[in-house]
Amino acid sequence: MSKLDLLGLKGVSKETITKILDGALEMKKILKSSKKKISLLEGKSVFLMFYEPSTRTSSSFEDAAKILGANTISLAVSSSSVKKGETLIDTAKTLDYMKADIMVIRHSVSGTPKLIADNVKASVINAGDGLHEHPTQSLLDMFTMREKWGTLKDKKIAIIGDIKHSRVARSNILGLTAMGAKVTICAPATLMPMGVENFPVTVAKTKQEAAIDADAIIGLRLQLERQNNGMFPSISEYFKYYGIEKSITNLSKEDVIIMHPGPVNRGAEIDTDSTDGIHSVINQQVTNGVAVRMSVLAYLTGTLDEFLKIKSKKRKIAPL
Ligand code: CP
Repeated sequence: MSKLDLLGLKGVSKETITKILDGALEMKKILKSSKKKISLLEGKSVFLMFYEPSTRTSSSFEDAAKILGANTISLAVSSSSVKKGETLIDTAKTLDYMKADIMVIRHSVSGTPKLIADNVKASVINAGDGLHEHPTQSLLDMFTMREKWGTLKDKKIAIIGDIKHSRVARSNILGLTAMGAKVTICAPATLMPMGVENFPVTVAKTKQEAAIDADAIIGLRLQLERQNNGMFPSISEYFKYYGIEKSITNLSKEDVIIMHPGPVNRGAEIDTDSTDGIHSVINQQVTNGVAVRMSVLAYLTGTLDEFLKIKSKKRKIAPL
């Protein structure tokens, strides 16, 4: 069987997304159990290669792999042999010769996970590449929404902020529309991606317009490290027109949920009331990240089907 990679959500079917989200639902039960450990990935090695900062993605992948019984190895990028002139591909091949089963890669250059996937036997997971995609963030966002509503079909999702540089926005547009949701985006003209007219989305002129009747509002981190100067006059100006603030939720559905992939810059992209208020599911997103990444690891190693089959058999005979 040829190996499976998760490089993005482009071309990933509704059925595959649904399977991963169903898997995450079962994985979440393991997280809630007292033992919090199974042997699904026993004997497998998961290498974490983070060439950009990360808290949520790197630690949740490590936790997910360990809970499933895999060995995890975090490459200390700042002291790895890339610093001595070794190419990224040679580094990845070296880890491949160590019999890596999965490589989880974050890199500032779009396309790096694909380049590595083309050169190694291990399955590769894109943990965020440049301004391309961040598929597991979108999967955990969709899982969090589905947990609330049971379905994503016809739900109205507003994504507001730095769309152009956001790999989260890109993956969410692809994933959510594949699942039948309706996506509206809103950004300053300088932070709107080229070719937006070909995206399967509605473009709103203001954040208020985007928020009307929304079931979910997703804020985005200002990707200052990927921006040129002069994209907007000031942070306070940006917040005024594109920041997520409590007042816009008055225009949305009564039970609208506020989401943000994190890390959050309070007062720049989102205010404290929205971050910590009753509509916020930002902390649930973080919790769900572990379950979703467990499901992705199981899916790529070909163990998810068997796991779900066993779970459904157990459900049939219990409880008496
Ligand atoms: N959302 C996200 O990717 O967070 P980290 O940068 O902390 O991994």
